[in-house]
Amino acid sequence: MLADRQILLIIGGGIAAYKSLDLIRRLRERGAGVVPVLTRAGQEFVTPLTVSALAGRKVFQDLFDLTDEAEMGHIELSRAADLVVVAPATADLMAKMAGGHANDLASTLLMATDKRVLIAPAMNVRMWDHPATQRNLATLRGDGILIVGPDEGVMACGEFGPGRMAEVPQIIAAIEGALSAGPLAGRHVLVTSGPTHEPIDPVRYIANRSSGAQGTAIAAALRDLGARVSFVTGPASVPPPAGVEVVRVETAAEMLKAVEAALPADAAVFAAAVADWRVSNAAGQKMKKDGAGGLPALEFAENPDILATVSRMSEGRPKLVVGFAAETHDVERHATEKRARKGCDWIVANDVSPGTGIMGGTENAVTLITAEGPEAWPRLSKDETARRLAARIASALG
Ligand code: CTP
Repeated sequence: MLADRQILLIIGGGIAAYKSLDLIRRLRERGAGVVPVLTRAGQEFVTPLTVSALAGRKVFQDLFDLTDEAEMGHIELSRAADLVVVAPATADLMAKMAGGHANDLASTLLMATDKRVLIAPAMNVRMWDHPATQRNLATLRGDGILIVGPDEGVMACGEFGPGRMAEVPQIIAAIEGALSAGPLAGRHVLVTSGPTHEPIDPVRYIANRSSGAQGTAIAAALRDLGARVSFVTGPASVPPPAGVEVVRVETAAEMLKAVEAALPADAAVFAAAVADWRVSNAAGQKMKKDGAGGLPALEFAENPDILATVSRMSEGRPKLVVGFAAETHDVERHATEKRARKGCDWIVANDVSPGTGIMGGTENAVTLITAEGPEAWPRLSKDETARRLAARIASALG
């Protein structure tokens, strides 16, 4: 599996850098080529000579090394590989990645690459547990960065806990996983997400409380299984995931247009909380109080139902159409009826009754309604719910 694959290996400055020397050997034993990059801090732990001797080629160290630029520019270097691996990934390197810094060769390569990135964090347990590192970790996960480890155990500094770099066989397994084509490779999946904004006048609009968190997590999980994802999003409060094609819209009508333009797709997931109505007499200018106490008379028109429109397409309908239902009571019954009414294949129903904390929260408890009937899933994080749904979509598409 690793034969003839090229790994760009960035070695950060941590005591675990000694394990990366073994990693180079084991990768080469399996037929992979290793292009090594050593950060300035990394050079304090292992020498460029050792790294290049093991890799069997020159080690790259400096962004402004003109010979390197003449031989191979940093953009090319970052893209010629099949996978970028950062081992050890120090707290500092993770912070740079999360912050989008590009002030040395390693961080510039990580910003410029169009390949998947796998990091093997290694640091003192307190540094790992620090809110800043955990915040950066969450950001990196959201950006689609793959993470292996860290392990728990006695550390070089004498403390005990999570922070020790994963062992070489574990890193090799993660590299193999990252290089294997996911079950959705070659598939195109469309995802709608977020709320819509329906204007009342140029400064006011009707909206809802959807954060876009579940739709974003679903798009990321589908991407992680290898799908090409078109992500049509209303004005959500969470940023869209990296590595998907983002189309930003405001209104339901714009969302329908964007969805139609993104088709054909193998599957479509409609996670957006689309406004059912729009203001049909929206004003072209800001509405003013008339001073006489008169209230504006808003008139409403029904918005197109995007899920039903796509579900009922006679030509080019995605093989699998998945809708969502937000219910506060009789969840199964309402969602089963909704599935039939809209003509979609599956409905992901969530109980959004006030005490659940689901709307706007980080967890979800869903019931999946398919032709076979309802299936209650346990209460899970929105990320885990998304991963389960993505795996189900992959097996349904076969
Ligand atoms: N949907 C859509 N276009 C609309 C309205 C809804 O695509 N104009 C989709 C949503 O993305 C979601 C599902 O339809 O997948 C939800 O249907 P909806 O009828 O809006 O259900 P609820 O919001 O659960 O509302 P209600 O209880 O009013 O039926």
